[in-house]
Amino acid sequence: MTTALACGLPTLPSVVSPPMSHTPPPTHADMRACVRTELADLTAQGRLRVRPVIDSPDGRVIQLRAEGGRRKLVNWASNDYLGCANRRPVKNAASRELRRFGAGAGAARLLAGGLAVHRRLELRLARWLGTADALLTTTGFQANLAAVVALAGDPEDVVLLDRGCHASTYDGARLSAGTLLRFRHNDVEDLARQLERTAGARRRIVCVESVYSMDGDEAPVAAIHHLCRERGALLVVDEAHALGVLGPAGRGLCAEAGVVPDLLIGTCGKSFGSQGGFLAGDQELIELAVNRARSFIYSTAAVPAAIGAVLGALELLEANPGWPAELCAHAVALRAALRTAGWQVPEGRTPIIPLIVGSEDAALALALALREAGHHAPAIRPPTVPEGSCRLRLTLTLAHTEADRRRLVAALTLLKPAI
Ligand SMILES: Cc1ncc(COP(=O)(O)O)c(C=O)c1O
Repeated sequence: MTTALACGLPTLPSVVSPPMSHTPPPTHADMRACVRTELADLTAQGRLRVRPVIDSPDGRVIQLRAEGGRRKLVNWASNDYLGCANRRPVKNAASRELRRFGAGAGAARLLAGGLAVHRRLELRLARWLGTADALLTTTGFQANLAAVVALAGDPEDVVLLDRGCHASTYDGARLSAGTLLRFRHNDVEDLARQLERTAGARRRIVCVESVYSMDGDEAPVAAIHHLCRERGALLVVDEAHALGVLGPAGRGLCAEAGVVPDLLIGTCGKSFGSQGGFLAGDQELIELAVNRARSFIYSTAAVPAAIGAVLGALELLEANPGWPAELCAHAVALRAALRTAGWQVPEGRTPIIPLIVGSEDAALALALALREAGHHAPAIRPPTVPEGSCRLRLTLTLAHTEADRRRLVAALTLLKPAI
């Protein structure tokens, strides 16, 4: 017997045969004990995550709730690179759309939730990026799910991911109908080998980020684009950490390299200081995503205030085209100062600055010591980064002052001998 479900899948069997077993089936208490064991394992490994609480806006300085009360800390953990979340024109634009369209969209876009403000932002983003169209999703995570699921819709498709890709792209590949393959990080030759091996696939979809979220390094997008065109593969570039940061007036690394990927992915949660995600590309691929991307089709559209904030941030960015270069200049100077202080900081210009210390204990100890010195930069550990590469991930924003940067370097200079 089969049952139709409101999930976009045609039909599913209503009865799934359990595996044959001679032992009695586990009870509800057994299931809960199993959950407790999993949590106890995480605790024993020191990997049980908790949700920090901040009692202030996410700005340059935050009020973090910590043991012993609230701590006022300089915040080195925000991806709001241009400090847009707290700029008055951005907040005003958010409240304008909130007043005009209400607090929520009420439904998914294809059902009844498509408001004029959603379409306005799509067209604005497309114009800004020079693409034919764009498609909004409620988060950047959903945008990556949407792109990969839509493009790899057949078991004969292959999704080739850079090993450094974000969890959302991995999950998109796993949820898609295609086969997931990975190539070595930023290794164009390895990608070429894998494209050679998969020449018989119906579609090959190559997914990269232009700036990688944990290392802050840049992808060789021109070489990857050239290879994809030569071998007939589709290219998806996630510009989450490059929009507002790199390229002409912040239009990203692809724009800087003169590359037009098949789909460009963005998030509104970083440089635009708001929330949401989008795919930008030509009419055909956007239409495919509208019809196939389950994370778009089956999710309530973004709230009008969030969309308004992005419109406000885009206007600000267009009025201040020098902001991205200014941010990168500060990032280059901060990287150099940290190197002078004895830290091994990779060459680069992006505001994601990794301080790789190796072990989890070292990363946790460094984060704690920095907090005592008045700075917030949490330790990043597996599974977010590979074993042995635990780090502090410092993110610089335009909201930071010269004094903030100087004090951070001074604190890290004192802490270096202990690491
Ligand atoms: C590279 C990359 N892509 C996508 C996302 C997801 O974006 P969002 O936070 O808007 O869901 C992130 C966020 O961490 C990211 O770093």
